[in-house]
Amino acid sequence: MDVLGQLTSSVAHDFNNVLTVLDCNIDLLKSQENLQEEQKNLLDNCIEAVELGSNLSNRLTKFARVEPLAETRVDLNAWIDSFGKLLNRSVGKGISIEYVLPADTMPVLVDATLLGVALLNLVTNARDAMPKGGKITVSLDKTNIDEAVDPVRGKDEKRTYALLQVSDTGTGMSPKIKERALEAFFTTKGEDEGTGLGLNTVKDLAQSADGFVQIESARGKGTAVKIFLPLYEEKSP
Ligand SMILES: Nc1ncnc2c1ncn2[C@@H]1O[C@H](COP(=O)(O)OP(=O)(O)OP(=O)(O)O)[C@@H](O)[C@H]1O
Ligand SMILES: [Mg+2]
Repeated sequence: MDVLGQLTSSVAHDFNNVLTVLDCNIDLLKSQENLQEEQKNLLDNCIEAVELGSNLSNRLTKFARVEPLAETRVDLNAWIDSFGKLLNRSVGKGISIEYVLPADTMPVLVDATLLGVALLNLVTNARDAMPKGGKITVSLDKTNIDEAVDPVRGKDEKRTYALLQVSDTGTGMSPKIKERALEAFFTTKGEDEGTGLGLNTVKDLAQSADGFVQIESARGKGTAVKIFLPLYEEKSP
């Protein structure tokens, strides 16, 4: 394993130890008698955050190539419906999230942990771009893409994609920033505020699922990040 891989595994390992301590203490608190409903809800939030932290550390371990990605069939529609609760809590006051989800199922083949990290990164970016508040829209749709704009498919192949889009009413990006935004370690944020890996993880997710990412953005006009993931075709038994 290279040096970056070793460092990543060791950070993931230490992080996991911290999470274990948190988990045990939350468990102890939850087992106390006479807890009020509101206190139980707050503890449930803590449990979900610890779970996400644990997923993130698994993701780090995968990044260090200790474990391969675990791609499984995920129904995007149901998955967003449930993951949305965590997203809603991550944006704070002044920002609302609207979900526009179709009625049909949207099966794709992805690593669910990476998908969660990617979506959380997109919502965090949107939040950071709206310091005075605003609106985030998370939408899902089916789309057939014109060969000319599909960087993944060959000429004669047609494929239907699930289009997962996160858009915001924030500052938007200049053409120069937009051009570099998907690069690893590209950031316009302060040293302690961003690593520049958020959108690169989104690209990583899309590529690992044989899909791709597009960004639409202009200064003062907000941003939309579109993730195209091939719909998973169920094989008949
Ligand atoms: N929704 C958005 N609105 C405006 N600019 C954005 C948006 N999303 C990303 N950007 C720009 O793209 C850059 C790269 O984003 P990315 O998520 O990869 O890294 P980061 O947010 O700077 O740091 P990190 O996500 O690692 O904490 C950001 O620094 C910002 O300039
Ligand atoms: Mg980011």
